Amino acid sequence: MNRRFFLQSTSAILATQILSIAKPSRTHSSPMAIVNPTLEAALPLGDRATAKGLLYGAAATARKIQQDSAFAAVVARECKLLVAENDLKWRALRPTPEQFDFTRGDALAAFAQAHNLRFRGHTCVWHNALPDWFEQVVTHQNAEQFLTDHIRTVVGHYAGKMHSWDVVNEAIDPVGEGIDGLRDTPWHRFLGADYIDIAFHTAAAADPNALLVLNDYDLDYAIPRDAAKREAILRLLQGLVARGVPVHALGMQAHLRASEPNFDPMILRDFLRQVADLGLKILITELDVVDQDLPRALHTRDLAVANVYQTYLDTVLQEPAVIAVLTWGLSDRYTWLAGFRPRSDGAAPRPLPLDALLHRKPAWSAIASAFDQAPSRPHL
Ligand code: XIL
Repeated sequence: MNRRFFLQSTSAILATQILSIAKPSRTHSSPMAIVNPTLEAALPLGDRATAKGLLYGAAATARKIQQDSAFAAVVARECKLLVAENDLKWRALRPTPEQFDFTRGDALAAFAQAHNLRFRGHTCVWHNALPDWFEQVVTHQNAEQFLTDHIRTVVGHYAGKMHSWDVVNEAIDPVGEGIDGLRDTPWHRFLGADYIDIAFHTAAAADPNALLVLNDYDLDYAIPRDAAKREAILRLLQGLVARGVPVHALGMQAHLRASEPNFDPMILRDFLRQVADLGLKILITELDVVDQDLPRALHTRDLAVANVYQTYLDTVLQEPAVIAVLTWGLSDRYTWLAGFRPRSDGAAPRPLPLDALLHRKPAWSAIASAFDQAPSRPHL
C-alpha cells in the first residue's frame, strides 16, 4: 500500500463514504454488505490522534477480546488506549468481601501490553456494579477500611501499568437529595463528602504515576440539567484542588444524543476552559451517540450520528487540555446502548465508529476528520 493512499485526505474519505452509503441497497447484517476498500485501508484513528499529541481508545471487556478475534484485531488496529468496560468494577473484582479476582483485568492488561496500547482503569468508586454482598457487609464502621483497602489493592496491583484511573465515577447529583450537590450513594451515606478526598489520596499513594480522573456524565448540552451539573462539578473540582487533593483530570463521559438540539459550542468551550484553568487535564471518556429517536434508514441515521461526533469533537478538541478521546466500545457489534437505549422499532443501534461487521462507517470518518483537523498538543 503506498503512502499517498494511506494519507489520502479525510474529506475525500468522507465524500467517498457518503457516496457509498447514498445507495443503501444492503443492511449491515447482510453478508454482502458494501465495503469501501479505500476507507478500510485508511490510517487508523489511534494513529491520527497520536499525530496530534492526542490519545484515542475504546472500552472493551476481556470476554469479547478473548472470544472474538476479529473484534480484538480491530481494537488493536484502531486504538492506542484500552479501558476496561466492566472488568475493573467492584462486582467483577470482588467475588467475596475478602477476595480479589484480577483474572479478567489482567487479561485486558496483557492484551494492551501485547499490542502496545496504554491501559486505563474504570472505576474505583461507583454506586453501581457493587457486588451482591456489599449491602450486607459494608457499614458506617468499616466503610473507610473497605474503600481504602480496595483502592490500595486494585490500583496497587496495576501500579506503573496504568495511563489513568477513573477514581470516582458519577459523584455529582445537583438536583437530587444531597445538599452538597453530591449523589446519594453508599459511600456518601457512610463517609460524607470526604469519601472523594479519601479515594484520590489513596489512589495517588498506590500509583503515583497514573493520571487520576473524576468522571461524570450530562456535562455536554445547553440545557438546565447539564448546566447545573457543570456548575456542581466545577465547585467540587475547585474544592479538591484548593485542598491539595491529587485529582489530575476531569473525565467527560459524553454519551451524546443525536436528537438533542441544544448543543452550544461556546458554553462547552467555556466550561472546558474553566476546568483547564484549575490546572486539570480533560479526557472524553465514554463517547457514543444515542440514535434511539432517529429514522431507521441506515444512511440517514449514520450521517446524523457522524455529524454529532464531528460537531462535538471539533468543539472539545479546540481546548488544549483535552488530551484523550475514548469511545464506549468500538463496534456496533457490542454496545451497551442496545440494552440501555433500545430503539422502539427494534433496529440495532449504530452509535460507534465501526458497524456490526467491524467496517468503518461515517462516524469513523467524522472522528478521523476531527483528529486530522485538531490543533496539535505538546503531550505524548
Ligand atoms: C456500562 C457497560 O457498558 C455495560 O456493559 C454494563 O452492563 C453497565 O455499565 N457510565 C459508566 C460505565 O461509567 O461504567 C457504564 O458502562 C456506562 C455508563
